[in-house]
Amino acid sequence: MRIVLPALTAAVLCSLATGMSQASPLSVDEKVRNALQLDQRPANGQKLYSTYCVQCHGPQALGSAAKVIPSLAGQRRAYLVKQLADFSEEERSNREMHTVVSQAELSSEQAWADLSGYLNSLPRASFPQTGDGRGLELGEAIFQEQCAYCHEEDGRGDDDGFIPSVRDQHYSYLVRQMRSIASWHRLNVDADLVRFLDSLDTEEATAVADYLSRMRGPVRDRDRMNSDGTVNN
Ligand code: HEC
Ligand code: HEC
Repeated sequence: MRIVLPALTAAVLCSLATGMSQASPLSVDEKVRNALQLDQRPANGQKLYSTYCVQCHGPQALGSAAKVIPSLAGQRRAYLVKQLADFSEEERSNREMHTVVSQAELSSEQAWADLSGYLNSLPRASFPQTGDGRGLELGEAIFQEQCAYCHEEDGRGDDDGFIPSVRDQHYSYLVRQMRSIASWHRLNVDADLVRFLDSLDTEEATAVADYLSRMRGPVRDRDRMNSDGTVNN
């Protein structure tokens, strides 16, 4: 059998041989942790949003059901930071978002902190698209049985574990994400999540998405949220 030396190994051997060493780049999870430690500057987040994001995600960050663009208003901060980092590091594939986050001004941890602070503070000002309403009982049963222990029974998510809010989101986007996560278009995720979503057939996936798209309520940072998901402000 012929053994091929991988390029990476060759590079490592080469740097050892010449005594050169390079500081190892931060992993995506380290970058996310750093971004979450930074002060958020929502005013700068708003400025960045109106320059780079508004044309797709809309003036109030409510997305577009027809174009399958997610609502970002009120989404959890920890999750938003992680998604921006994942797009930036190509851990989550989407051509449009790669193009956006590859701009110099958007590739820093501070930019992710500022954008997510701003987006988390926005109200969900209108209702998202829902499905046809025929599978709601099935959707509820699946969600409460298989998904609620991570996403919480009212879909509000959790900053610990980077779990997104799945309520107030467009039906079309939820259906598409459930399908694409199941086919590994996000690499930086737990294999269990991929398996859960892959186990649903089309009828089940559309039923859960319809059920979720009808869930309403504010989603804010944990420190401003009561245990029942309501906020004092
Ligand atoms: C050219 C259109 C376009 C622009 C501009 C754009 N986005 Fe997006 N964004 C998308 C699409 C499409 C998706 C859905 C990607 C997918 O299906 O995986 C998305 C997804 C996201 C997500 C993931 C949301 C979730 O629930 O997982 C975040 C966060 C996001 N965008 C933030 C931003 C921010 C912040 C900006 C500006 C810096 C921005 N986007 C600019 C099109 C765009
Ligand atoms: C083990 C915990 C866990 C379970 C169980 C789970 N999820 Fe998730 N889910 C997550 C996490 C974490 C993410 C974010 C992944 C990432 O970082 O990209 C996520 C992402 C999602 C998204 C994408 C949201 C967006 O805005 O793009 C949808 C939709 C979703 N889950 C639906 C479900 C459904 C439906 C079920 C049950 C069949 C389920 N999840 C079960 C943890 C879980």
